[in-house]
Amino acid sequence: MNDVTYNGLTFEPFITREQIGERIQQLAKDIKRDCQGKLPLFLCVLNGAFAFASDLFRAVDMDAEISFLRLKSYESMASTGVIKEVLGLNEDIKGRTVIVVEDIVDTGHTIKNVIDTLKAKEPAEIKIATLLFKPEALKHDVKPDYVAFEIPPKFIIGYGLDLDGLARNLPDIYVLKEEKKD
Ligand code: HPA
Ligand code: MG
Repeated sequence: MNDVTYNGLTFEPFITREQIGERIQQLAKDIKRDCQGKLPLFLCVLNGAFAFASDLFRAVDMDAEISFLRLKSYESMASTGVIKEVLGLNEDIKGRTVIVVEDIVDTGHTIKNVIDTLKAKEPAEIKIATLLFKPEALKHDVKPDYVAFEIPPKFIIGYGLDLDGLARNLPDIYVLKEEKKD
């Protein structure tokens, strides 16, 4: 795999589509095991989680439903910490098992906001499934239940994750290349 460049920034290969696929199969098994006898509602947090949610949802070999939320917290590469409204949850989630599907848990601002919004609607339980988790960047007391990859606090693109709207369609995951200092 080769480096890729977006907006003048160079990214190098980090996680392959094969590795992503393997982790998704495992998470799907874990979710099925934990949700026996339930009808879980997957809630995909748009835009970034669309690729992961699509693959994870299809890998879970049980009856399940999916819906979509939209919000915005990131301006380019720096977290503003500003979360706009959580949009688009029309389902009645009272008493249900909800699995929030995220592309990345970074500072945790976004997922914290989603959880607080959902809790007010009285689900039976809320689980968090995330493709990527940056434990060192976390600023809130949230712990994802299903994590495909724990990663260092570096900027990532591909497989749904963007740089200013670009790179979401890369099938593999890339990391921002460090400048060589000498
Ligand atoms: N890449 C893209 N979007 C993000 C990231 C990242 O590393 N962290 C939070 N949003
Ligand atoms: Mg983004």
